[in-house]
Amino acid sequence: MDRNLALEFVRVTEAAAIAAAKWIGKGDKKAADRAAVDAMRTRFNQIDFSGTVVIGEGKKDEAPELYVGEEVGTGKGPKMDIAVDPLECTDSVAYGRYNAMAVITTGMHGTLLSAPDTYMEKIAVGPEAKGVIDLDASVGENITNVAKALGKDVGEVTVSLLDRERHQKLIEEIRRAGARVRLITDGDVASAMATCMPESPIDLLLGLGGSAEAVLAAGAMKILGGEILCRFRPRNDNDKKEMDKMGLDEKTIYTANDMAQGDDVSFTATGVIEGPVLEGVVFEAEHIITHSIAMRGKSKTIRHIKAMHHEHN
Ligand code: FBP
Repeated sequence: MDRNLALEFVRVTEAAAIAAAKWIGKGDKKAADRAAVDAMRTRFNQIDFSGTVVIGEGKKDEAPELYVGEEVGTGKGPKMDIAVDPLECTDSVAYGRYNAMAVITTGMHGTLLSAPDTYMEKIAVGPEAKGVIDLDASVGENITNVAKALGKDVGEVTVSLLDRERHQKLIEEIRRAGARVRLITDGDVASAMATCMPESPIDLLLGLGGSAEAVLAAGAMKILGGEILCRFRPRNDNDKKEMDKMGLDEKTIYTANDMAQGDDVSFTATGVIEGPVLEGVVFEAEHIITHSIAMRGKSKTIRHIKAMHHEHN
């Protein structure tokens, strides 16, 4: 992948984040999402590459922009798969809660998993605990093994999971194992990434979350050297039908490398509201300040980019 292209994608997430940030706390998640999608699509189409959306805003008949299968870019450059969430955590933005960002994972054509919009069971850890997690093991076993790999007591391990009714049993199991629980209202992409950040208290991500977010996180985890293991958990018969059509099953366990194949992966995100990985957008009289992370699989370079934008640019 062209090194400059990775930096071009930062402009895309910056534009989406700024557009979404204007809707913080206004109670209108559709408008926030639409603003991010519009800005992201406009910016993509200024870049010399030939992208196909494999994870996006939905099916063509449901989403007018950035739908799965849509071609973006000028069509002049390399052929790439793109997974996008112009606004990861629409509710956080609509209601002014912690943690939201604009996200892109890319790979060369045919390398990203094209997942239907459903749930996946997830477990994610940072580099030190990469080899010790197992989706088929009990919660207690995973926590014990992660604690050992991190050189911590079980009581010091912090597990992040979405604050959802469906996770009640899981929370009880984590407590029974003796580990600590951190609940998040939304945003398991950032929580997965946080397991790879030494300064973050989060050691392990568990639970059911979006399949799109699994693929987006896979790009990041692969470059950060961590691991995310996922397995489809369809919400209903419709999801099952979609999975059947795509030849996907409920048994296969996907690694980060299965969901984002090859070295030519990139991950880019810009914070909308501060979260475990990024600061949010700040509006000042003269400037708009954004914080982004841009990573390329080939070099494994991780760039933190603080930018000051003039509104009219
Ligand atoms: P959106 O970007 O669609 O708002 O997703 C936010 C999110 O919290 C994801 O991070 C997570 O994977 C998913 O929703 C969980 O879905 P649900 O809210 O249905 O539990």
